Amino acid sequence: MITDKPATRPRNPCFSSGPCAKRPGWTLEGLANAALGRSHRSALGKAKLSEVIERSRALPRDYRIGIVPASDTGAVELALWSLLGPRGVDVLAWESFGEAWAADISTQLRLDDVRLFEAPYGGLPDLSQASPDRDIVFAWNGTTSGVRVPDGKWIAADREGLTICDATSAAFAMALPWHKLDVTTWSWQKALGGEAQHGMIALSPRAVERLQTHRPKWPLPKIFRLIQDGRLNEGIFAGETINTPSMLAVEDHLDALKWAERLGGLPALIARSEANLAAIEAWVARTQWPAFLAADKPQRSCTSVCLKIVDPAVTPRKLAALLEAENVAFDIDAYRHAPPGLRIWAGATVETEDLRALFPWLDWAYAEVTA
Ligand SMILES: Cc1ncc(COP(=O)(O)O)c(C=O)c1O
Repeated sequence: MITDKPATRPRNPCFSSGPCAKRPGWTLEGLANAALGRSHRSALGKAKLSEVIERSRALPRDYRIGIVPASDTGAVELALWSLLGPRGVDVLAWESFGEAWAADISTQLRLDDVRLFEAPYGGLPDLSQASPDRDIVFAWNGTTSGVRVPDGKWIAADREGLTICDATSAAFAMALPWHKLDVTTWSWQKALGGEAQHGMIALSPRAVERLQTHRPKWPLPKIFRLIQDGRLNEGIFAGETINTPSMLAVEDHLDALKWAERLGGLPALIARSEANLAAIEAWVARTQWPAFLAADKPQRSCTSVCLKIVDPAVTPRKLAALLEAENVAFDIDAYRHAPPGLRIWAGATVETEDLRALFPWLDWAYAEVTA
């Protein structure tokens, strides 16, 4: 049993699942060119916003990408409020965020024809239950359970309904089958380590068509409105945001996107994240006390890696607190509504070397709390 403190600490102790670690090499000086004090509608401000959109484009050219208020939550809510209604809705939920979208659809939008397919933390519902003639709402990666959808095979290519996918902890870390996703949302502060601020929404041509033809029966707040005078407000997809974004956060996100490009773009980000998951898997395999919360290997998240402690008598919170006090790992206690455990972010901004330095500390902390 390890009792001495390990000799080396992770160089970056940030393993939070959002806001996530800044990219390796990030400095505040890197934001020196931010358009601070300038209007986001000036030529400079708008150029930066449209650069965010263009650099985010790893998806078909005919998809529109917009920057919308209120981070990922804003983007998802905008989609639900703007698009749902004309068809029945199937919601797939296996952790806190999916449950939240299901609750909003039923209790806020009060749609009658809603089917909820749920699974407890650690699993996925039977995805094949979602019907192609209904709208389907789901999160690609359940950030609070560490369970992801393994692929998009269960989504019909010739579906009539729309798929609305909250991909905030999957974008820039997992391969998303864009032609199966009609609405996809993400934020700046997850896999690219940006600042929490505006959110991103990507719309397929069919989602745009729904927007243009469907009039929700409820009022839409200004921050949800993509339609102006009955037509799609194209400006939003060219960097004309509905309301004011932080130009500092915009600059920071551009910094992250450029870093991602220098690495080799999406494939490189995915490879880094998968390598991090593999390192954690190797440590779990040789260690007695932790186990993955995700029951099935193909469903294990490569970003929000959730672990349980095999012995239920051991409190993960104590272990996380010990490591925080040692400046070794910050914010790795499980999400507040998830089963007790540890959640370690493994997206591309996390260095595998830092995870390798963390493992002996996890073993040390376990020995301490069980001594
Ligand atoms: C799956 C999922 N959806 C939504 C959110 C909320 O995102 P935001 O805080 O960017 O609005 C989170 C945050 O962790 C998340 O993990």
